[in-house]
Amino acid sequence: MIRFVSFEGGDGTGKTTQIRALESYLRSRGRSSLATREPGGTSLGKLIRKVLLEVGDHEIAPSTELFLYLADRAQHVSEVIRPAIDAGKIVLCDRFTDSTLAYQGYGRGIDVALLRLFNDVADHGVRPDLTFLLDCPVALGLARTNQRQREAAQPREDRFEREKIEFHEKIRAGFLAMARAEPARFRVIDAAQAAEDVARDIQKIVDQEIF
Ligand code: TYD
Repeated sequence: MIRFVSFEGGDGTGKTTQIRALESYLRSRGRSSLATREPGGTSLGKLIRKVLLEVGDHEIAPSTELFLYLADRAQHVSEVIRPAIDAGKIVLCDRFTDSTLAYQGYGRGIDVALLRLFNDVADHGVRPDLTFLLDCPVALGLARTNQRQREAAQPREDRFEREKIEFHEKIRAGFLAMARAEPARFRVIDAAQAAEDVARDIQKIVDQEIF
């Protein structure tokens, strides 16, 4: 049974839009879901998110960054995700453990096997049943993020958006490698398509897997 669905992908791949679309699709089919995200899915997590993404010019060591994401996750699982699953909701989560492997592992170079152990501690054994990997060329994702910044009332570039294109290429390759290694859980979606087409692809899979 599918109870926990994660959405993964690089910056600007459209996860947030797709989670909203799936939430309303599930509602239209009479299923209650809870949409949440990392970092920042709890009130403590919102503080952690601020530290992580808005530290200005302060340098954060890669291991400090890692432990902040893990702290956010541990709180999120125990306060939000597990109770929602126990209450019979389908949880839709914008990023989860695979983001740690992609960004802190493939991106920052921390040993991936070690990260899996840390993830095991932080997720308290709660694992996604299904993971949508929204994949598109890095240049397209970054162009969408830049566009979003230009349209924002208070434009604010986060630390990852300042990273070079090679960093984002490593993240993309890492996600794709994880999807190949775990084909039963991952569904790779072509996120270069228009949002409606991405949503249709996701709904088709949900129709097979959930209904
Ligand atoms: P966010 O603004 O939520 O980005 P997006 O809209 O692309 O999801 O910022 C979250 C950032 O945190 C994103 O760049 C990925 C990064 N991240 C990690 O590096 N490790 C993690 O474990 C998680 C959950 C996120």
